[in-house]
Amino acid sequence: MTVDTRRRRTLALLGASLLLPSTPALPADRVPTPRMTEGPFYPRAFPQDIDGDLTRVMGRSAVAQGTVLDVTGRIVDRTGKPMARAKLEVWQCDNLGLYHHVGDMQPAGDPDFQGYGAVSTDEEGRYAFRTIKPVPYSGRSPHIHFLVRDGSRTALVSQMFIEGGAGNEQDFLFRNLGKKAELVTMRLENAGTGLRGTFEIVV
Ligand SMILES: [Fe+2]
Repeated sequence: MTVDTRRRRTLALLGASLLLPSTPALPADRVPTPRMTEGPFYPRAFPQDIDGDLTRVMGRSAVAQGTVLDVTGRIVDRTGKPMARAKLEVWQCDNLGLYHHVGDMQPAGDPDFQGYGAVSTDEEGRYAFRTIKPVPYSGRSPHIHFLVRDGSRTALVSQMFIEGGAGNEQDFLFRNLGKKAELVTMRLENAGTGLRGTFEIVV
């Protein structure tokens, strides 16, 4: 190999290396979960029992009325990075369509339903909570309210809907979302004696 050929090869290799990206490509952007307001039924006063199992109330032996539903999923940011140690708060009405912990706004409902609960995500952004399959109430299709806290910051407030939920198409919030409604809709599957669903949250 002549000096000239070697030089040309070196230059060609240098040229090729310059074409390589210097930083890894950013993951595709995720579509953020649509935001909704807290609404009037966020607790005014928190119950003593605020764990991630809403079907049991501390000190009571019975299980909440309704169909048990286990919800699991992940909380990620728009680049897909997990939100570790975020707090997920959930609240919903009981099987009679009544919210709890909202003072005199509602008559007493199912005493064995917790009404509100909070869980933390793990290092991979995963969360899990147990509740009942939500039921419709006046003007609203079945939904679970949720709120994501990142430290003291409220990162997102929204609602989870059920695929094929009774009255979804008439529900003003669901309808207003148009195509984005699929981002807040979860499919439920049979799981033993209850149901399970997965729901990814993008903040
Ligand atoms: Fe609601």
